[in-house]
Amino acid sequence: MAVQPVVYGSSTRPPRGNYAAASDDYTCDQDWGALTPAQHALYARLFQRQVRQLPGHACNEFIQALTHLGMDTLIPRFEDISRRLHRATGWEIVAVPGLIPERPFFSLLANRRFPVTVWLREPEEFDYIVEPDVFHDLFGHVPLLFNPVFADYMQAFGAGGLKAEGLNALEFLARLYWYTVEFGLMATPDGLRVYGAGILSSGGETMHALTSAKPQRLAFDLERVMRTEYRIDDYQDTYFVIRGFAQLFDATAPDFAQIYQRLAPLAALPPSAHLPGEQSYAPNLTN
Ligand code: PHE
Ligand code: CO
Repeated sequence: MAVQPVVYGSSTRPPRGNYAAASDDYTCDQDWGALTPAQHALYARLFQRQVRQLPGHACNEFIQALTHLGMDTLIPRFEDISRRLHRATGWEIVAVPGLIPERPFFSLLANRRFPVTVWLREPEEFDYIVEPDVFHDLFGHVPLLFNPVFADYMQAFGAGGLKAEGLNALEFLARLYWYTVEFGLMATPDGLRVYGAGILSSGGETMHALTSAKPQRLAFDLERVMRTEYRIDDYQDTYFVIRGFAQLFDATAPDFAQIYQRLAPLAALPPSAHLPGEQSYAPNLTN
């Protein structure tokens, strides 16, 4: 069976990755030796810019875990990260040509394997990229896989995804992924902090998410999240705030089958929807 490339939504851009080189489970070789000095240098520049944004903005769990990524002057070899990650939480990372379809994606997660895109953006895409690349996947997602509670959440998500497929509920899980794994915020005694990979790997969204008066920041509520559409073309209008990874894990542990049934007849909410009585967390004060 030939593997199929994947694009976001109704995009007509050809997908970037080389899907011809992937196996049936969509994994491929990282081919580290083919990376050029210019690509390593671009990765290093991205890494340095994002690291500078972390203090006071990223959650402590992320900052602590980032040290495990090691080397920041070269694109890392995936096998080096996998060795350390496996020791820490039993996860490993695998190379993929780019976005992959839901079922193989969920299967990998359910088996504690996180797919990381092999290609790096072009220099013109330094500030903005529409598809995840190796920098987004590694810098944004991999550090928290060293956190035991978050690591278990990701595996549960994978298993839940395989189940949701048969229940026609993938849209609900996609929203949960978006508003937690990609764009999640956490309330801490020191103020709001970011744990979402889409924010942490972005040049500008960190300040928007934490300090702008524009978006609303709602307390995490599983069913509210699952009903809320999201935008992939701009900074988010709404963020959902957890109090810690244990809350996230516990709130998503129950069987979703009944929740999917309850939500199915309800209309989805637009990204900026505001329901009566909902309170928004105040933005962090800038300093
Ligand atoms: N508890 C969910 C279910 O029964 C599985 C899940 C866990 C989904 C964590 C997402 C995140 O489907
Ligand atoms: Co991502």
